[in-house]
Amino acid sequence: MKARKSDFPIDEFILNRWSRRAMSQELMTDDELMSLFEAARWAPSSYNAQLWRFIYGKRGTPAFEKLFNILVPANQSWAKNASFLILVISRNNFTYNDNPSRTHSFDTGASCENLALQGFINGFVVHGMEGFDYDKAKVETQVPDGYTVEAMFAIGKPGSPADLPEELRKREVPSDRIPVDTFIFEGTFKK
Ligand SMILES: Cc1cc2nc3c(=O)[nH]c(=O)nc-3n(C[C@H](O)[C@H](O)[C@H](O)COP(=O)(O)O)c2cc1C
Repeated sequence: MKARKSDFPIDEFILNRWSRRAMSQELMTDDELMSLFEAARWAPSSYNAQLWRFIYGKRGTPAFEKLFNILVPANQSWAKNASFLILVISRNNFTYNDNPSRTHSFDTGASCENLALQGFINGFVVHGMEGFDYDKAKVETQVPDGYTVEAMFAIGKPGSPADLPEELRKREVPSDRIPVDTFIFEGTFKK
């Protein structure tokens, strides 16, 4: 497997985190999941508003089934071995005065990266997903108005790529990135 290489020095866990799909049947413990939510908890947010919310289900429970059933079939084909599925939601307005927050999604993304990095450090698969039915997710998990359904995650113990469907087995490698100088601009946006 080709190792990732950074153009500038960064911590190895940032460089080497990647979204595996192969997961073993072995279940994670609840405490192992809570460690990832704890990492999410300490993310920065505008006004320290902490507008992220998570709905989770453990494999073998009705909560998992409910979340599993809103995934597109392509994601179901590998996420079926996840220990936990998570639906990520954000509250649109501040809790203290109910005024709109501009950054609820941005802050929630930061909490998810904390969760993903901690998951990688702890040796778990943490794989983000947008391949699910957003409307059904809202209804099935009873998300109230005033909240945004953001994404889902499949989390589990690493497994063998040999157990993945063939198409996905070929793609079970770390991806590369566009160079830094294609997305940073000094002073003015450039196309
Ligand atoms: C919000 C979000 C949604 C994603 N949706 C899916 C998805 O539905 N199915 C999937 O297999 N991967 C999905 N991914 C994984 C991305 O394809 C992956 O993060 C990206 O290719 C970069 O690779 P890496 O995470 O291995 O570094 C998603 C990732 C994020 C952050």
